[in-house]
Amino acid sequence: MKILVTGGAGFIGSHTVIKLIESGHDVTIVDNLCNANPKVLDRIQQLTGVAPDFARVDIRDREGLTAVCEQAAAESGPFDACIHFAGLKAVGESVAKPWEYYDNNIAGTLTLLDVLRTHGCKSIIFSSSATVYGDPEIIPITEECPKGHCTNPYGQTKSMLEEIMMDMQKADPEWNVVLLRYFNPIGAHPSGLIGEDPNGIPNNLMPYITQVAVGKLKELGVFGDDYNTPDGTGVRDYIHVEDLAEGHVKAIQAIEAGCGLAIYNLGTGTGYSVLDVVKAFEKATGVKIPYSIKPRRAGDIAACYSDPAKAKRELGWKARFGIEDMCRDAWNWQSKNPNGYGE
Ligand code: NAD
Ligand code: UFG
Repeated sequence: MKILVTGGAGFIGSHTVIKLIESGHDVTIVDNLCNANPKVLDRIQQLTGVAPDFARVDIRDREGLTAVCEQAAAESGPFDACIHFAGLKAVGESVAKPWEYYDNNIAGTLTLLDVLRTHGCKSIIFSSSATVYGDPEIIPITEECPKGHCTNPYGQTKSMLEEIMMDMQKADPEWNVVLLRYFNPIGAHPSGLIGEDPNGIPNNLMPYITQVAVGKLKELGVFGDDYNTPDGTGVRDYIHVEDLAEGHVKAIQAIEAGCGLAIYNLGTGTGYSVLDVVKAFEKATGVKIPYSIKPRRAGDIAACYSDPAKAKRELGWKARFGIEDMCRDAWNWQSKNPNGYGE
């Protein structure tokens, strides 16, 4: 298939692009590089032997996107599908800068959808999030679990965009819309050539741990040990980014089969607490992680993990990697690239 990947230079996008190329797909990346380093494109080429087409375009830029679609059409026909990763994703920043999040994520996606449909592409896979379940009513979370209240603008954009795409698919059944609700993606490509490279001090647990391990940060702060969980710390469903990337290849197959609207959780189905992750990291890498208990972080919930049975049943997808594999690969990336893609 000929696939447009927005945000393909980012963490999840770059891992997915590699799997798509390895599966024989023809990939064009659109990314404005607001949260990515162009070096990732060289690494993708190094790993696959293929330099994917790349356009530095903002998804809010209608003319820029139109030019990408027209060039693709002139060369070998319209895109068959779009995998849409591009978006801003920092929860705390979204509270401080709501307009920027609604503009980038909502206005950007509306422009993208319109340009796609006017250029003969009505198939999209969207990066949604377990955050749409809010504080979940059912654990493990199935796709039938009602969506919940999102406590921040980032989460709101995911939930609203799901609704927008569902409405469009209902009005025009020619659309195939696959909403993938990711749980907590961590890890890195086993080569250590690509991985997660957050700006500044990481907000998320695994990049924080790897930066403590590499000596850039002193100790991990554990946000709360008084939750209603086995050890009192927050429980999440961590998923290896390689498994997540594979899930997109399976979702492309669903689109090829004309799936219409489809919604899937992508998680392992197993929850680990913050202290479980610290222990798994120490076991997998031999590196000790000093930590201290801090107050709860605003907006956090006690536990969030998936029931991934629907993705297995309908897509034939199941996560293969465990928590120690995720820790090993995250550490392999961080230790080989202490400053990420920077010098
Ligand atoms: P990322 O920041 O590494 O990747 C996003 C990419 O999109 C970046 O390369 C960035 O430069 C690009 N981008 C942002 N705004 C853009 C715009 N207006 N035009 C063009 N490019 C733009 O993030 P990621 O972790 O790879 O996440 C990918 C997607 O998955 C995001 O939509 C994110 O919200 C979603 N998601 C991520 C997680 C997670 O924990 N990482 C969890 C659930 C959902
Ligand atoms: N945590 C710490 N210390 C840290 C960072 C995190 O104790 O320095 C704890 C959190 O309190 C939480 C767990 O580690 O219990 C995981 O936190 P993350 O920030 O790594 O992940 P979240 O579950 O809060 O959120 C992530 C993404 C969201 C996404 C959600 C579900 O940041 O964008 O997963 O996919 F919506």
